[in-house]
Amino acid sequence: MRIGHGFDVHKFGGQGPIVLAGIEIPFEHGFIAHSDGDVAIHALCDAILGALCLADIGNHFPDTDGQYENISSRILLRHVVGLMEQAGYQLGNADITIVAQAPKISPHLLAMRECLAQDLNCQLDQVNVKATTTEKLGYAGRKEGIAVHAVVLLMAKDE
Ligand code: CDP
Ligand code: ZN
Repeated sequence: MRIGHGFDVHKFGGQGPIVLAGIEIPFEHGFIAHSDGDVAIHALCDAILGALCLADIGNHFPDTDGQYENISSRILLRHVVGLMEQAGYQLGNADITIVAQAPKISPHLLAMRECLAQDLNCQLDQVNVKATTTEKLGYAGRKEGIAVHAVVLLMAKDE
């Protein structure tokens, strides 16, 4: 078994909607980002890559490379899942915490899990997504952006 942790922050700016864990959520602001700005998928990718000792997504998909501009982060996630499978691992489980004062995330949690489970080639009960505010403290609390923490456990595939 291997454990991995990922953390990412994206800043609000420009027009909404935002995309979080593959789900489009109406919001007054969008994310300032090179890709679609899906900060939840970025944290999840970094957790998987961390477990595999394969650096991070910035390393695999440099934002200086024009081919990743506005790319759906789901494509990055599927690539990372491919690397995980190539290395002989499958997902045990993933747990994701979205730190956001706004927008309201809870109505979208099930759709997010369904979306991620598809890309992770896993069952719904292997991927959890939850949300918390910071009681209006700090950058998330001031609605300047969203932070996401992700933890994964990978299991060696039995061949
Ligand atoms: O301290 P606790 O996390 O319980 O309280 P909170 O941060 O105010 O979050 C209360 C509930 O709101 C949680 O169950 C979250 O799922 C939900 N929530 C949400 O839907 N959207 C957010 N942006 C933040 C929290
Ligand atoms: Zn990111």
